Amino acid sequence: MLKDVNGLGPKSLQKLQDAGILTLEALAIQDPKVMADRTGLPESTGNRFITEARLMLKEKMALDFVPGSIAAKVLDVPIFSTGVAGLDKILGGGLRAGAIYEFVGPARSGKTSVCCQCCVTVQLPPDGRTIQIGKDEEYTVHGRGGPAIWLDTEKTFRPDRVSRIAERFGMDPNMAVESINYVKVVNAHHLRWLIEERLPFVLDATNAKLIVVDSLIRHFGAEFIGRETLARRQQIISRLLQLLIEYADAYQAVVIFTNQVRANPSPFGSPTKEAGGNILAYGSTYRIRLRPIKGEERRATIRDAPDLPEEEVTYYLTDIGLVDKNGLGTLANPTSTDNGDTE
Ligand SMILES: Nc1ncnc2c1ncn2[C@@H]1O[C@H](COP(=O)(O)OP(=O)(O)OP(=O)(O)O)[C@@H](O)[C@H]1O
Ligand SMILES: [Mg+2]
Repeated sequence: MLKDVNGLGPKSLQKLQDAGILTLEALAIQDPKVMADRTGLPESTGNRFITEARLMLKEKMALDFVPGSIAAKVLDVPIFSTGVAGLDKILGGGLRAGAIYEFVGPARSGKTSVCCQCCVTVQLPPDGRTIQIGKDEEYTVHGRGGPAIWLDTEKTFRPDRVSRIAERFGMDPNMAVESINYVKVVNAHHLRWLIEERLPFVLDATNAKLIVVDSLIRHFGAEFIGRETLARRQQIISRLLQLLIEYADAYQAVVIFTNQVRANPSPFGSPTKEAGGNILAYGSTYRIRLRPIKGEERRATIRDAPDLPEEEVTYYLTDIGLVDKNGLGTLANPTSTDNGDTE
């Protein structure tokens, strides 16, 4: 608990809380200078608190040196499933707490659908639900038993799509929709305010295990026009990504953001490129390219992952969400209809 930090009295506690620093984990990953600006606490005092928090969390987050055996435990984070066995496989088992996933692709490739589906699967209990993915093949979809957060810059969040997906995993569709904390983002400034000021409070209040930003750069593309705005735009986007990375770590959540592709003017390389430039590639831990093939068929490829090979998988975008094979993907044993226990 924050209040257990040596020397941290009620006044300092209040200042930290007002600035959205609500947990020991959030304190431990602060930059003392930035924290001084945000809280009004003297930098040296803040620095003492941060150091103390790092030592207190040494064995949980390895923010000070620990033996490799403890590192193994720290790195062994909870994972939840996307609900598509093939996609989980190329992701190394599913979506890892503390990691950032960028889903990038052209219109209708399935970016928003992936987000809808993951907002449902994250809510499933950790021991999961078993679905049919082949004639004689079953697959267990593990969740985190926690709600989700959705920042929507595109106005494409569809509760009815979430309901249909929830039903196929045997969940109460109303509860599944209710457990998504939604906000419509009107412009880039609003997005900054939400990520900088509001997100820590919502994470703390809801214990959400997934943050969706669909899409991260849309407003920046529309509002920051011309080369002279580029540096500032990239600076803001990288700051927001840095914050998202910190929240993911501090709250053991997953971050998914979506990104568009635009035509690549260069005669070299692929004909399309991720929008937003390289900064997104640095900020995101895993980049997954989605593309339409034909009909409901889509393909996903892992790009730029630190610990995974570049692999490709086919999935289908249907009325019950993303599935491994067309016509399958519903419960193997359709008796249970509750939304599961919390983690
Ligand atoms: N209820 C549904 N039943 C069947 N297919 C659907 C349904 N809803 C969406 N789809 C499929 O998903 C596609 C849209 O996918 P989605 O919105 O996830 O794409 P996107 O990558 O987010 O696109 P954009 O860049 O426009 O935001 C539709 O074109 C359709 O093929
Ligand atoms: Mg979309």
